[in-house]
Amino acid sequence: MGNSAKIITVAGKGGVGKTSICACIVRLLAERYPDKKILAIDADPAVGLSVALGVDVKLTLDDIRMSIVDSVENGETREALELLSEARFRIFDALVEMPGFAFLAIGRPESSGCYCKVNSYLKEVIGMLAGSFDYVVIDGEAGIEQIQRRVMEKVTHLLLITDQSKKGVQVITTIKEVADELIGYERVGAIINRVTNPELVAMMQPPVEVLAAIPADGAFAANDIRGKSVLELPADSVMLQGVKEALRKIEIL
Ligand SMILES: Nc1ncnc2c1ncn2[C@@H]1O[C@H](COP(=O)(O)OP(=O)(O)OP(=O)(O)O)[C@@H](O)[C@H]1O
Ligand SMILES: [Mg+2]
Repeated sequence: MGNSAKIITVAGKGGVGKTSICACIVRLLAERYPDKKILAIDADPAVGLSVALGVDVKLTLDDIRMSIVDSVENGETREALELLSEARFRIFDALVEMPGFAFLAIGRPESSGCYCKVNSYLKEVIGMLAGSFDYVVIDGEAGIEQIQRRVMEKVTHLLLITDQSKKGVQVITTIKEVADELIGYERVGAIINRVTNPELVAMMQPPVEVLAAIPADGAFAANDIRGKSVLELPADSVMLQGVKEALRKIEIL
């Protein structure tokens, strides 16, 4: 009950493995805590987490937001409170029940350009759903926008993901600075992903403790290319083992 939910998110440069790591987190949590309520949110308009978890999405958060906006524009005069309770009801409609976890996609707004409307709606939804789940795992978009817009303000565990590049480390350093100002997180840590030169990891200067350095994993990439979900990976997968190590260090597993 209440606000004891652990809300875990990933942040970092584009293409460093955020979605892949999120999918692994969801699988590991579902395996470790079969009796807990786990929610995966795909908060990247470019989607990806649904594919990584093999979820078939029919209704997105943006569909719900738009249908509520439409009904207001059609001249139905309703109280704000009524709208909110309708939104609450319909959000549970959009949750896809998977074995061991629930899934919600924010979707891709039809109108081009700015995602700010769905982002501000998403922020409310995260706060609302956190009360109904024990673990919420959010796959965000690349960069700092969702942190800057306080979409992630309720996050308790922030995982900063980087590859071996200087640029990747710069991005998570900036994200950490912004997060310190705008998020009341409890725990933070870095994951270095797709490591090809382990001896170089020691020379890197990430802004926070490194929870795990995950080697480049050909089997993971091949699984992804074949369109298979992370749920189909063998349990001894390098990627799953690396993410498990990180989650243990940050006391999630
Ligand atoms: N440890 C790894 N070894 C090999 N390939 C990996 C590893 N981690 C991720 N990949 C591959 O790298 C690609 C990008 O990963 P992913 O989509 O998870 O990154 P992302 O940070 O979510 O990207 P975006 O910023 O576009 O959302 C994918 O093809 C994925 O299979
Ligand atoms: Mg992604």
